[in-house]
Amino acid sequence: MTDDVLIERPQAHPGVQVIRFNRPAKKNAITRAMYAKMANAINVAATDDAVRVTAFLGTDGCFSAGNDMADFMAFAMGGTMGQEVIDFLRALAGAAKPVVSGVDGLAIGIGTTIHLHCDLTIASARSVFKTPFVDLALVPEAASSLLVPRLAGHQRAFALLAAGEPFTAEEARDAGLIWKIADAAVIEQDVLAVAASLAKKPPEALRIARNLIRGDRSDVLGRIDEEANHFAARLKSAEARAAFEAFMRR
Ligand code: COA
Repeated sequence: MTDDVLIERPQAHPGVQVIRFNRPAKKNAITRAMYAKMANAINVAATDDAVRVTAFLGTDGCFSAGNDMADFMAFAMGGTMGQEVIDFLRALAGAAKPVVSGVDGLAIGIGTTIHLHCDLTIASARSVFKTPFVDLALVPEAASSLLVPRLAGHQRAFALLAAGEPFTAEEARDAGLIWKIADAAVIEQDVLAVAASLAKKPPEALRIARNLIRGDRSDVLGRIDEEANHFAARLKSAEARAAFEAFMRR
């Protein structure tokens, strides 16, 4: 199994499972194997009483540069879109227990949209959130086309998801995409502390409260599938292939 993402259960923080991107040489770009490992961790958490909260973390200065471009290229060249990413998104969107995240630096593509499915996200001031879907001749994913307009209104959703404008941590917070901003040096500590604090709460009350706050998730799951159909078709387009080739050549 890949070590490009690590699944940890830190002893100092009982009840917390950490999903840690561990591919800094490739800016934590996410491969099919990484999606599969992450989906499995979220599914295991649902039935394992030892896990009460899952926390996503990246590396110094980089959360994730999004989906691996080589995988995009492989789909564009005739492969089929990996089921792993859909399985991961469905597991995350339907996660039975709280999910938190910490961002320091780059958060691109799914590195941004992942947080729409987290309950609390803390980011460093130097973080940048960006979804260059349309620039890559692709379309929004992870139900972002449903969730970002809900959170931030049409204009900010359009700026992020269609215009591909970068959002600073402050802009992301003001748009409701993240909870708060902290010093880069304490992001991990703060995220683990908030996760540990959630892990100590009465689990059934927390579960019900979370489900009430999140509401019915069938529309989110439906949008993930709808976007994925468009995404798969766009991946095969000449314009997407040209964009991936340009990235590979740069
Ligand atoms: N997929 C695969 N590899 C990626 C990657 C991705 N999404 N993002 C970065 N990498 C790799 C680079 O190819 C490079 O590998 P190399 O050293 O073997 O050539 C390495 O990570 C470092 O990236 P580099 O581009 O040199 O760093 P940078 O600091 O100049 O730029 C980014 C960083 C993230 C701005 C730039 O790499 C980028 O735009 N990546 C693509 C992001 C993207 O569009 N993701 C998909 C969203 S849907």
